Amino acid sequence: MPEDTLTVTDNRTGRTVTVPIEYGAVRAMDFRQLRVDEEDFGLLVYDPAFMNTASCKSRITLIDGDRGILRYRGYPIEQLAQQSTFLEVAYLLIFGELPTREQYKEWVHAITFRTFLHENTKKLMEAFHYDAHPMGILVSTVAALSTFYPESKHIFDEESRTLQIHRLIAKTPTIAAFAYRHSRGLPYVYPDNDLSFTGNLLNMLYRMSEPKYSPDPVLERALDVLFILHADHEQNCSANAMRSVGSSHVDPYSAVAAAAAALYGPLHGGANEAVLRMLEEIGSAKNIPDFIARVKAGQGRLMGFGHRVYKNYDPRASIIKELAHRVFEITGRNPLLDIALELERIALEDEYFVERKLYPNVDFYSGIIYQSMGFPVEMFPVLFAIPRVAGWVAQWLEMLLDPEQKIARPRQLYLGEGKRDFVPMDQRTARRESAVA
Ligand code: CMC
Repeated sequence: MPEDTLTVTDNRTGRTVTVPIEYGAVRAMDFRQLRVDEEDFGLLVYDPAFMNTASCKSRITLIDGDRGILRYRGYPIEQLAQQSTFLEVAYLLIFGELPTREQYKEWVHAITFRTFLHENTKKLMEAFHYDAHPMGILVSTVAALSTFYPESKHIFDEESRTLQIHRLIAKTPTIAAFAYRHSRGLPYVYPDNDLSFTGNLLNMLYRMSEPKYSPDPVLERALDVLFILHADHEQNCSANAMRSVGSSHVDPYSAVAAAAAALYGPLHGGANEAVLRMLEEIGSAKNIPDFIARVKAGQGRLMGFGHRVYKNYDPRASIIKELAHRVFEITGRNPLLDIALELERIALEDEYFVERKLYPNVDFYSGIIYQSMGFPVEMFPVLFAIPRVAGWVAQWLEMLLDPEQKIARPRQLYLGEGKRDFVPMDQRTARRESAVA
């Protein structure tokens, strides 16, 4: 009997099957051979929320939650945050290797010269209400790009695909900045192609009457590092949305819009906003012990703490904490940082948090930095989406080119009514099925 196998006995029939274990996993399809009789569909695997199901083989991002490790294409996140740039990391995620100098120059040029939006896109954005959430504007406008680039549906044409990837990375910051200016009632600022990726974003967000905007180099770099940290995080909710929607072979703009919609949810891209509100509510370091006691009594959570995968520290949180100090030298110290630091100190010594392996996650400090840089909280998920486009596109490409992948189509366990005959309206009694069985 080969070692890497699993043998199971179906007690319904007494039949025993042996299935291979590959990469620490068994194939769900192998269990289909377990049938009660010829009519039976075969044994299904039930896993709501994909708690223990690998949906793909991937070579992009590795997270080792027990050891606090995050790597893109094998490179530790700490080294990338220190030595790389967001655009270089985007190239790495998408193409699998760091670019040579020549490749990098071409890549930066290809992105930089596609930052402008079609004027009709701008008109479309103008139609949104003055207080429209910028993330709603972003999701809708990215989806609308597919109508401006109808050739994007040729997803198996490599040249067209690469062009759409350039456009997606280049135009998302422009849409994001226009959405922000729209919410402030300010005129839109066009891209400045002399500036870096993040320098240009700051220009489009904050330029007023000055003819040329000069971004502060420390803030420009800080934003770039934040973008590196947020560029990919393997099979999370939005990456899964990207792969799933993309598996229907829709154009990438529509798939990215779906992924951005998934990110919009408070359980995914919205936690840093919750951290900020929590710190504001605590208000002062002297209120922390009371707050911690309430959390331990089950009255709310310490936002920005804990993670489904990281059960050691979240490596992104340590980098961001360090970055915060550099940003505050320019923007002035955000008083919320002192509350956050004290909260962290107390929580990390407290048995409740230690026992449950609750450490600060990426969102614990990022909101404080974004707030100090002048971003309103509604912009936080938008700032998450801009770099994550690179990760979504990398995940999409990998899915598209993987011969094992097909249209994503889960099975279900049907628990509803058996066959019954239609009842005419005047013979029905009032009853309604509850939403949850
Ligand atoms: N504060 C207080 N207690 C907590 C917290 C917290 N932040 N997180 C988990 N716990 C407790 C929880 O009550 C449970 O205790 P018990 O065993 O006594 O019932 C135990 O720890 C395990 O919690 P869980 O809910 O089973 O853990 P999970 O893996 O399902 O949840 C989480 C992970 C991130 C949703 C959760 O830790 C949480 O709600 N954190 C606060 C929200 C937050 O910061 N989210 C951002 C995540 S990072 C973003 C990203 O990477 O995309």
